[in-house]
Amino acid sequence: MAIKYIPEPFRIKSVEPLRMLSRDERCRKIKEANYNLFHLRGEDCYIDLLTDSGTNAMSLEQWAGVMRGDEAYAGASSYYKLIDAGKDIFDFGYIQPVHQGRAAEKVVFPLLLGKGKFAISNMFFDTTRAHVELTGARCIDCVVAAAKDPAKRVPFKGNMDVAKLEALIAEHGAENIGLIVMTITNNSAGGQPVSMENMREVAKIARKHKILLDIDAARYAENAFFVQRDEPGYADKSIKDIVREMFSYGDLFTMSAKKDAIVNMGGLIGVKDASSPLVFKIKANCISFEGFYTYGGLSGRDLEALAIGLYEGIDNDYLRYRIGQMEYLASRLDDAGIRYQSPVGGHGVFVDAQAMLPQIPYNEFPGQVLAIELYKEAGIRSCDIGSYMLGNDPDTGKQLHADFEFTRLAIPRRVYTQAHIDIMADALIAIKKRAGDIKRGYRITWEPPILRHFQAFLEPIA
Ligand code: F0G
Repeated sequence: MAIKYIPEPFRIKSVEPLRMLSRDERCRKIKEANYNLFHLRGEDCYIDLLTDSGTNAMSLEQWAGVMRGDEAYAGASSYYKLIDAGKDIFDFGYIQPVHQGRAAEKVVFPLLLGKGKFAISNMFFDTTRAHVELTGARCIDCVVAAAKDPAKRVPFKGNMDVAKLEALIAEHGAENIGLIVMTITNNSAGGQPVSMENMREVAKIARKHKILLDIDAARYAENAFFVQRDEPGYADKSIKDIVREMFSYGDLFTMSAKKDAIVNMGGLIGVKDASSPLVFKIKANCISFEGFYTYGGLSGRDLEALAIGLYEGIDNDYLRYRIGQMEYLASRLDDAGIRYQSPVGGHGVFVDAQAMLPQIPYNEFPGQVLAIELYKEAGIRSCDIGSYMLGNDPDTGKQLHADFEFTRLAIPRRVYTQAHIDIMADALIAIKKRAGDIKRGYRITWEPPILRHFQAFLEPIA
């Protein structure tokens, strides 16, 4: 039986109408979009679960902050408010705003990586992988084996495989590893958290080999909630204390603030040691790519909303409701025998499309097939996190075979209600009933060389 839905710790003050197209219209729209959900118009999606990034609902305090935003080019009061919040929560010496997460990557990675270098992560997300590769360096994923078994219910499936990490460093030479990246939560593995213990061990290895440790911190607050809930010794610690301890192990962080900081646009770079020579290089790159270092590509109003959102994102009641939504949806899927990356992670449900569509091979993209079916079934927009997203080997150009084929239903923060979540579950259950009738997947008819899933055109294989 489905678990109890945790009521929203807020009420609704402003509403946005939704429209459901007919089934025929949805089939026409997805065909016109060349079977790429990124090419659909937002207004043609009844429930939009493409991403939890920048799709969050701001609070009345944040909207009030928008009016208080100081638009001074240099040294705006909103900048100082953001810096104070960043230093307070993360205990880092230097905080740099940027316009989003990939901007942080673009500013920082070329300073530490380049041709012949490697970056090792518990798992890279797509843009992070792309920015490593754009420097000429290569990415190595090093997640624990449990992450690759969606049915296996163990905590902290986002962890780094530390034995493999040591072996990789020995194989390539510490001097060739430009960066270790800990992604919290581990998005590509299903929003799975990293334990404090794992972070501590990885930091020890990084320090031993004098390799910098970067925290890819997009969903740091959700990660802290899992530590509080599941890791021995943390039940009585506040989310803020857990965050501060987690960040104490990193040398720098790159953050998309469009997730756990509950804003529509923003990002941060943090450097632990404010006297590091990296700081001036970061400022210089930021001035070239993003704007002066006290606004970093954001309006004063964005800086202000972000400063407030950082605190709202670490509120315990909010996080309990937030993770509760995932658990409620997951429990409905359990009842229906639908497999997903379990236990459910922090920002969405990653349905195991390979398990639902075993007849579709990886190079016909099962995760994409299920995402298209969800759109046709109920106007729900989701996305593939599998071989379609992973793309081709940058050296050989050959299609890579992902460790899993997920369809991600990423849930925007404070946006959808229990009734919407029930529609998601009902749609998946309806598709499961007719899954055997889906015989073939999709082929790509055009693709760009990098981050192809955003732009590619597909067609059904007859
Ligand atoms: N790192 C992680 C772990 C992410 O999930 C993302 C974005 C980024 C970096 C880049 O941040 O979008 O602000 O430039 N993830 C989004 C997603 C897009 O849908 O999961 P960005």
